[in-house]
Amino acid sequence: MQWSNEASQQGISTTKPPPEIELEFFGPKPGSDGTYPRDKAKAVSGEKLLRSIMQDSKIELYATYGKVMNCGGGGSCGTCIVEASQLQCYLIISSILDGRELLNERTDTENKYLKKKPESWRLACQTIVGNKENSGKVVVQRIPQWKK
Ligand code: FES
Repeated sequence: MQWSNEASQQGISTTKPPPEIELEFFGPKPGSDGTYPRDKAKAVSGEKLLRSIMQDSKIELYATYGKVMNCGGGGSCGTCIVEASQLQCYLIISSILDGRELLNERTDTENKYLKKKPESWRLACQTIVGNKENSGKVVVQRIPQWKK
């Protein structure tokens, strides 16, 4: 507390930085070297949709059809599918991660488009990453419909 008072008297900001969510993305198929393509991104908790984070980080979201026919994030095409869940353990060296608890609940739009799909499948344009208070890591499988 004393540091905080001294800091504020000196004009130093004492506000904590907002919590962040770390994201790791895996491609749906291994490359020619047998490894799965991986990308990483970070986002302030509760500020962005997964689709925006992926687009800002230039991470591929759509499969072939979605690239040309997506609705731009309006929740009316069902092409921005990702999977946020436990991955097969050979993909992750240190641990099996599951960050679904860091995402909002499935929306009605998702329930409509993903009715018969695994619970871990989400529409990136409906998925809010974090709730402004939590932090952690979410592992995302891109284009899960391409998995074998
Ligand atoms: S971009 Fe169309 S439903 Fe997500």
